[in-house]
Amino acid sequence: MSSSQRCRLAGVLCVVRIAAMQIRSIVIPLLKWFSENSRDLPWRKTIDPYAIWVSEIMLQQTQVKTVIPYWERWMKQFPNIISLANAQEEDIIKLWEGLGYYSRVRNMHKAARNIVTKHNERFPCDLEHVLPLPGVGRYTGGAICSIAYNQPEPIVDGNVIRVLTRLLGIEESSKSKSVIDFLWSVADDLVKHAISLQKPMQRNASSFNQAMMELGALVCIPKNPLCNHCPLKERCIARKEKKVEMIPVVPKRASLTKRRFVGFVICWRNKMFVSRRPNSVVNAGFWEFPNWEVATKVEAVTIAEANLSLSQAELKPLCVINHSITRYRNRLEIFLIKASRKPHLANLSGKWLSESEVKELPLTSAHRKVLNKLIF
Ligand code: ADE
Repeated sequence: MSSSQRCRLAGVLCVVRIAAMQIRSIVIPLLKWFSENSRDLPWRKTIDPYAIWVSEIMLQQTQVKTVIPYWERWMKQFPNIISLANAQEEDIIKLWEGLGYYSRVRNMHKAARNIVTKHNERFPCDLEHVLPLPGVGRYTGGAICSIAYNQPEPIVDGNVIRVLTRLLGIEESSKSKSVIDFLWSVADDLVKHAISLQKPMQRNASSFNQAMMELGALVCIPKNPLCNHCPLKERCIARKEKKVEMIPVVPKRASLTKRRFVGFVICWRNKMFVSRRPNSVVNAGFWEFPNWEVATKVEAVTIAEANLSLSQAELKPLCVINHSITRYRNRLEIFLIKASRKPHLANLSGKWLSESEVKELPLTSAHRKVLNKLIF
């Protein structure tokens, strides 16, 4: 990236100069601050790319303090790629239980098998080969390559977005593609500068990237940031202009509409009933447990009697799944029905399938969560 950046943000030509001097005034204090303030996290005691990959995947949707015990248990049970590649899916999912977003662990399993067969059991050592691994995006790829191999690959996550938009006083939407592209190019410039300052025994790409994340996690926090403790306070444009609380700019969400659904997992002889969502509706082609949108006050038993011809069915509350789709905030209340005789579901089209058959179907994410509640 050149020292003078031009970016068109929401139609306004904004010239952002990050001259060499200014880059120095970001990189040097941040590296110093990190060396004095970084948290003692277990994955920071290793440069094993496998261990760092595991930490980064766990950290994708989950807070640091939740991840720590999971990461420690995982590294004991699956200390390397080969042990993960050879693992049974139910064992790895069991170990992941409670972290949620199970596609992450399934992708890790696939990636481990991929590494064993295509990379000679060695974790790939450059971004070009790390990025194609299932579950690895630009952020995770950059984090692995910089932290494990000290390669000057940039990273931009929520913390980095907050730090950089405030530092540079970016008042355009932090979700816009032009802003995100710009932040990646700034992060790239900064990490390359960090490595150019590296002295023997230092790992500046790794330290700098983690320093940006750490500053966002500990100091440049979303509400009431601790600006007085910030190593970059002298050159933070948002602080100078008293706009810290307004940046990053996040577009207002359309107001949310609440909807309530009641659904049933109907079990008969180790099988359960599932229906395919018809074409022309949202999530067409995905499968789900029978469910109906209902008014707030209606009892589940009334819905069961009206739609399932299961009079006096015994309903056991199984779970409530809250999920958002576009502007809808949906509440899905699921009840379990264990039938002793095969229910006559004349008004429903669908299939009776075993749990393992249902698992293989494309399920909507809310109903995948329901199935997980049943399985785990
Ligand atoms: N969040 C994402 N990656 C992280 C890391 N390596 N350390 C701390 N927080 C993180």
